[in-house]
Amino acid sequence: MCLTEDQWKRKKTVVIIKNEAIAKDVYEMDLQVGETAKEIEPGQFIHLYCRQGQRLLPRPISICEVDEKKGRLKIVYGIVGSGTKEFASYSPFETIDIIAPLGKGYQWESQEKHSILVGGGLGVPPLLELAKRLPGKVEVYLGFRSQPFLVENFKKYTDFVYIATDDGSHGTKGTVLDVLKNKSECPEKARVYTCGPKPMLQSITQWAVEKGYPIQVSLEERMACGVGACVGCVCKIKDLQTGEWQYQRVCKEGPVFNGKEVIWNEES
Ligand SMILES: Cc1cc2nc3c(=O)[nH]c(=O)nc-3n(C[C@H](O)[C@H](O)[C@H](O)COP(=O)(O)OP(=O)(O)OC[C@H]3O[C@@H](n4cnc5c(N)ncnc54)[C@H](O)[C@@H]3O)c2cc1C
Ligand code: FES
Repeated sequence: MCLTEDQWKRKKTVVIIKNEAIAKDVYEMDLQVGETAKEIEPGQFIHLYCRQGQRLLPRPISICEVDEKKGRLKIVYGIVGSGTKEFASYSPFETIDIIAPLGKGYQWESQEKHSILVGGGLGVPPLLELAKRLPGKVEVYLGFRSQPFLVENFKKYTDFVYIATDDGSHGTKGTVLDVLKNKSECPEKARVYTCGPKPMLQSITQWAVEKGYPIQVSLEERMACGVGACVGCVCKIKDLQTGEWQYQRVCKEGPVFNGKEVIWNEES
């Protein structure tokens, strides 16, 4: 695949500082990205290139945390196929090609008083940098199948971290929505930010709409170029005024969208 001019400009070779397992088939990778660290907004993602020629397409992974002083960023990825398996084999001080940062992240006001963050599985990582930057009270709800990860990292930024696991091995047994309904103090006004599997995003959006809270969701679609050129990653977004919908690119207009504007299924 040919790179666009925009991709060429932003593609760089960076050094891997750390690449370690933090849960079963889940890895944390720190990258030395220099000045790029200053450009990053929570909710944006990067593209990582494999070294194996047959795996031509870059893999999109969300930015988990940024250290502007050291010029580093952290990503957390699960091993699901050949590309992520290859990434897990890399060692510190090896290099990797990336494009960063990509997409549009979460938005918030400087006067924000109360935020509710809800993450599920591999949708948990991008909420960490957000938890760090949000002003006011931040409640964090994290759902996992079994083994949680990044929990201690969140606790550095807020005292209100709640866990749900499908098997009940950690935190509350059940879904993250169950815990949210039980534990949230549900203030009159709050903003909700979420990332995770689509059914979870949809149910959290429904909950937020019932409470009258604005909600931002981070969507995932298969990607090719990652910079808006191939239109391979579209989702249906509706205009709340007119009710009309149009396709928007998850890599360019997203991955973060207003949850109320997302058409979750054809019946919506
Ligand atoms: C905006 C965005 C942010 C993401 N952030 C994270 C993250 O923080 N942590 C994490 O573990 N995963 C994340 N993902 C999913 C991650 O991109 C896929 O798990 C990864 O690309 C799988 O690559 P693979 O070669 O191992 O799998 P394979 O199945 O072999 O991949 C084959 C092709 O399909 C694409 N693909 C497969 N699954 C996905 C998917 N779920 N989304 C998009 N493309 C996919 C691959 O990029 C590759 O081009 C994110 C996806 C998107 C779109
Ligand atoms: S991946 Fe090409 S337009 Fe989004």
